[in-house]
Amino acid sequence: MIVLRNSVWNAQPNQLLKTSIVDKSVENLLALMTTTEKVGQLNLYNGTWDFTGPVPQDNSTQERADNIKKGLVGGMLNVLTVDAIREAQEMAVEESRLGIPMIFGYDVVHGYKTMMPIPLAQTASWDSDVAYETNRIAAIEAASSGLNWAFAPMIDVSRDGRWGRIMEGGGEDPYLTSVMAVAWIRGFQQDDLSDPLTMAACAKHFAAYGFAEAGRDYNTTDVSDQTLFNIVLPPFKAAVEAGVVSVMNGFNDLNGVPVTADGRLQRDILKGDWGFEGFVVSDFNSVGELVTHGFVKDEKAAARAAFMAGSDMEMDSRQYERHLNALVDEGAIDMAMLDDAVRRILKVKFELGLFEDPYRYCNKERATSNVLTADHLAAARDAARKTMVLLKNDNDLLPIAKDVASIAVIGQLAAHKDIPLGSWRAQAPANSAVSVLEGIREVATGEVTYTEGYRLVEEKRHFIHEVPFSEQNRNGFSDAIQIARQAEVVVMVIGEDCFQSGEGRSQVDTQLKGNQVELLAEIVKVNPNVIVVLMNGRPVVIPDVVNIVPAVLESWFGGSASGNAIADVLFGDYNPSGKLPVSFPYHTGQEPLYYNHKNGGRPVTNDFDAGKVFWSHYTDAPNEPLFPFGFGLSYSIFSYNDLTLSSHQLRSGEELKASVNVTNKSNMNGEEVVQLYIRDLYGSTTRPVKELKAFEKVMIRAGETRTITFKISTDDLAYYWPDGRYCAEEGDFHIFIGGNSRDVLQAEFELL
Ligand code: GLC
Repeated sequence: MIVLRNSVWNAQPNQLLKTSIVDKSVENLLALMTTTEKVGQLNLYNGTWDFTGPVPQDNSTQERADNIKKGLVGGMLNVLTVDAIREAQEMAVEESRLGIPMIFGYDVVHGYKTMMPIPLAQTASWDSDVAYETNRIAAIEAASSGLNWAFAPMIDVSRDGRWGRIMEGGGEDPYLTSVMAVAWIRGFQQDDLSDPLTMAACAKHFAAYGFAEAGRDYNTTDVSDQTLFNIVLPPFKAAVEAGVVSVMNGFNDLNGVPVTADGRLQRDILKGDWGFEGFVVSDFNSVGELVTHGFVKDEKAAARAAFMAGSDMEMDSRQYERHLNALVDEGAIDMAMLDDAVRRILKVKFELGLFEDPYRYCNKERATSNVLTADHLAAARDAARKTMVLLKNDNDLLPIAKDVASIAVIGQLAAHKDIPLGSWRAQAPANSAVSVLEGIREVATGEVTYTEGYRLVEEKRHFIHEVPFSEQNRNGFSDAIQIARQAEVVVMVIGEDCFQSGEGRSQVDTQLKGNQVELLAEIVKVNPNVIVVLMNGRPVVIPDVVNIVPAVLESWFGGSASGNAIADVLFGDYNPSGKLPVSFPYHTGQEPLYYNHKNGGRPVTNDFDAGKVFWSHYTDAPNEPLFPFGFGLSYSIFSYNDLTLSSHQLRSGEELKASVNVTNKSNMNGEEVVQLYIRDLYGSTTRPVKELKAFEKVMIRAGETRTITFKISTDDLAYYWPDGRYCAEEGDFHIFIGGNSRDVLQAEFELL
């Protein structure tokens, strides 16, 4: 059980689906259903046509509309607006024999209309309350718009910045991702799924999708059971314990088996060992793609393989619709198994209150009054501030005084009102973000000048197309150099287009594209006071940026209130408290790069004879990251002292306390994320050199010293053994405590 140290609750067993009334209602309904109607519930259609007009005469949509009216469709995705959802729901409820309502899903990944920071940014806050609040608000907005099922949170651990979807999850660590996963789910679902302002969550993608070989999206994945059970699965186990009511599988084949057809994952582990009572939905056409994988001969075999492996609902590839009835008639699929899948889906619909009132989420007044409210925008600003990571601040250049005589703001990204919305922008109005330039102008009282300087991308961009990078030239350089020369301080915003990361956006080179860095090098020649604000969705390669400027602030894609939040940090209205959830490399070639790596037999060391090559290293790049996992500065200065253990021996079933004193040596109150790592020095399998086991985000006032105490139990030291046991192993351990995974105090103890 993942114990959440830094949040207001521990994961509770899933209470949402255990009510006996629901169980009885489901059984009564199931008894009335024909096989065809049961198969219909496993059908998830994509709402690619416009409901608010007459159904187009295109055959496929006419046929699909007819199927909805026959009660042969369990749910839809991408049907938007209350009117469209009501119309689709009426077709299912008013016209079909049993009137079973549909469930309506959508990718509500970091907000619905009010955009929150991307999930990787939210994780950088190391604050589960940020995750909870952002999804609580996202659910209010999406559920008020008729939807009741979010295809989120994405909790795929990823260690590779080349993989574009690293922006969508919790980064490289399983424990931190688990903490965020539980909060994201609780934010969506709360304690009552029937509340018209909450929605069903969907933990995805089950599993190991983030380990795509070479960081190339949709590529094969091949991980050992040790990595699967110790790194990949823990966030999903935490999600199940937190009561997530649906799980989405993925496109990848894992160790030779496409996860959509992996019975060990979905039936043995998820539904068996973990007791998951919700339902599994396939990812977009992943059932049909079993043929493409070369896993099955044809689509009928694909339908059987996916269903037998525990994929309950099929997203839009319609193989179940075409083949499951025949498979049941032939005895190739047991009716009991079909009933189990239908039961799981019906339970969630009952819990959502859809049988009590199929239109409970269709309220046009809420759809306008509950979105883009001042409260939601304020929450987006608060969340964004907490996600920012101060990477460098030489000579305390930051914070900037609000009355500084002149600030030159440079960069296409600085004035951009769309890119900060991120890639999974749901129904955010285009260009609705507060830009960095607007945020600065709202606060600074001196002169603020602006010029684009460089142009990274053309304005017309769409999420399903490749990013239209602009023709690179130096046309804007002279203006930029001019305003930089005349200003006291320069704020230059550089980074990525929001669609350089996200689904289908892998890159072999994670340096910043175009000539933005070339311009930066010109700017620093005429003004030493240059602050770089980064806008990006992945751990970008930035040594040639960090080396030439005194201050760097990582802002990710901060959402609707991004510019205000960045200004809050730049001018000191908020003391940055974020920490990196992913390692930043010196070079893309270091990927995958992660802190919880193995030691190897010839690790990085200075002991080898100078100049010899027989040790693990690159001859053309450093081994270590430019910025390590957990790294982040503050305007305050925190010093760690006096790491003490209550004992240097720990017996099974007992607890050991580790305490440290953290002093804020500055004159500015600040929050610090105190992180605790352990190392199991030797075991039945090789163990990581560090593993994050706990953290606490604490406010430490100027000059104050806080004693932070963590409790370590044998549960914290347990890991999955090759034989499947989950337990700790006697032996020697190190404990590390610090403000990141590199700069730590160390103590030792023995597990007896
Ligand atoms: C996509 C994504 C998945 C998303 C689904 C529905 O391909 O892989 O995360 O929820 O399709 O849009």
